[in-house]
Amino acid sequence: MTHTRIIGTGSYLPERVMTNAELEKLVDTSDAWIRERTGIAERRVVADDQSCSDLAIEASRAALESAGVTPEDIDLVVLGTCTPDRIFPSTACLVQRALGIRSGAPAFDVSAACSGFVFALDVANRFIRTGGAHRALVIGSETMTRLLDWTDRGTCVLFGDGAGAVVLEASDQPGILSTHLHADGSQEELLHVPWGVGRGYKALDDTSGKIKMRGNEVFKVAVRTLGRIVDETLEANGLTKADVDWLVPHQANIRIIQATARKLGLPMERVVQTVKYHGNTSSASIPLALDSAIRDGSIKRGDLLLLEAFGGGFTWGSALVRY
Ligand code: UT7
Repeated sequence: MTHTRIIGTGSYLPERVMTNAELEKLVDTSDAWIRERTGIAERRVVADDQSCSDLAIEASRAALESAGVTPEDIDLVVLGTCTPDRIFPSTACLVQRALGIRSGAPAFDVSAACSGFVFALDVANRFIRTGGAHRALVIGSETMTRLLDWTDRGTCVLFGDGAGAVVLEASDQPGILSTHLHADGSQEELLHVPWGVGRGYKALDDTSGKIKMRGNEVFKVAVRTLGRIVDETLEANGLTKADVDWLVPHQANIRIIQATARKLGLPMERVVQTVKYHGNTSSASIPLALDSAIRDGSIKRGDLLLLEAFGGGFTWGSALVRY
C-alpha cells in the first residue's frame, strides 16, 4: 500500500502587522480583552495589491524549496480557501500558472472554511494513496480581513491573513496515518458570510459579504466537537493520548486550543501556538503553525502530530501524521 509523506513545508505572512491597539481605535474593545478572551496580540493584513493567490504562491515556493523539488515535479494542487481571488478560475489554477506547474496536472480549490487545509490534505492524500498523483502541493491561503466588518467588535478582532503549504509525496513509509472529515450544515447561521451569487443575489454593499458569527455559541460547539474528533482519531489508529508528540490545532482562540490540549492530557509546551501573532487565518492556520514549528526545530522527523480544525459549515476534521 502506498503511503503519503510530508516532504516539505512553507508559509507566508503579509508584511503589515495590525496590533490590538489599532483595533482599540476602530471599535469598543481593549488589548486586555482580546488577549484574555482570544490569546491574540496581533495579526497580519494583506496589502491592497495582494490576493489569496499571491500569498499562496509565496508559501508554495517556500514549501517546494524545503522539499527540494521544483514545480515540474508537482502533479496535483489542492488549495483550501474561503477567500479565493475570483469566482473562477480556482485559486489553485492561478497558483499552477504562476509557479509553472505542468499543464494537465489537476488543480482545484476546496471550500471548507477554517477546516479547508485538513480537507485539502485528505483529498490529496487519497489521490496519492490510490495512484492518482505522486507529488502534491497542498495549500491553505486566506485574506480573511477582506471579509471583516470593521465595526463589529465580535469578529473584527479575531481574524488575520496568511498562507501555508506542504508538499506531499508517495512513499513506502507511513506518513499521513489517517484523516477524518465531517460536516453539519444544520447550524449554518451561527457562522457564515451570507452573500454570493445564489437566490437573493445583489451587488455587494458595505454590509453584505462580511463574516457574521454568534461567537459564544460557535465556541461551545467547537470545544465539544474537537474533543470528540481527538478520540475518533486515536481510536482509528489504535493509539492513546500518550502517543501524540504535538498537537497542531487550528488557531481560532487560545481557550479552544487549551481545551483540546486538556482533553489530550498534553502540556501546552507540546501544542503549536501561533494564534498570538497570526489571529485566526482560517484554512491557513494549520500549515502556518506546522511550518513555524518545523522551522524552529520543535517538530522533528518521526514525531507524531495531531492536526485538527473546526470552522464554518460547520466543518471539522483531523489528520494524524507521522512526520
Ligand atoms: O475558526 C472558526 C471558528 N470560530 C471560532 O472558533 C470562534 C469561537 N468564538 C470565540 O472565540 C469567542 O466566543 C469570542 C472570542 C468570539 C468571544 O468570546 P466570549 O468569551 O465567547 O465572549 P461573548 O461572546 O460571550 O461576549 C462576552 C462579552 C459581551 O458583553 P456583555 O454582553 O457581557 O456585556 C460581548 O459584547 O464580551 C463582549 N465582547 C467584547 N468586548 C470587548 C465581544 N467582543 C468584544 C471585544 N472587545 N472585541
